[in-house]
Amino acid sequence: MRLLPSLMATLSLVLLLSACSDSVETEQAIVTQPVFHEFQDAHLKFGRSVWLGTCRNCHAFGFGGAPEVDDPEAWMPRIEQGKQVLYEHAIKGFFGPDDAMMPARGGNDQLSDDEVRAAVDYMVALVQFNSQ
Ligand code: HEC
Repeated sequence: MRLLPSLMATLSLVLLLSACSDSVETEQAIVTQPVFHEFQDAHLKFGRSVWLGTCRNCHAFGFGGAPEVDDPEAWMPRIEQGKQVLYEHAIKGFFGPDDAMMPARGGNDQLSDDEVRAAVDYMVALVQFNSQ
């Protein structure tokens, strides 16, 4: 049975290779994850957790025409409207001039007004941080 050792060697090489490619994939997944800045402020920390749960789905990648958090130019005219307008549009929902729809509470009825406002505060702070 001279075959067995070489078979074992081949097998362990295959196992080794597949283990390697697994770890490479994991590393790539970590590297390509976008990082959304975490602020020390407690209110913004709270807003971030709301934002990650609901708002990120569209505002991280521009889904459905949503202004992206790393696109300050898309945000500046919106931020200039003032926080009260942004809160109202986020809570009640809003159709932009190009008919893109911001659904009321980002489509998550479970969110309170305060949670939506905190998420707006976080998103505005994040846009300003990203444009520095
Ligand atoms: C299903 C996708 C989607 C989700 C989820 C979503 N948004 Fe939006 N949002 C949009 C789109 C699209 C627009 C742009 C509408 C336009 O002006 O054309 C927008 C615009 C906005 C604006 C700018 C409004 C203005 O007056 O210009 C704010 C503020 C906002 N979203 C806050 C939020 C918050 C806070 C959440 C989470 C609670 C959230 N969004 C979740 C799609 C989404």
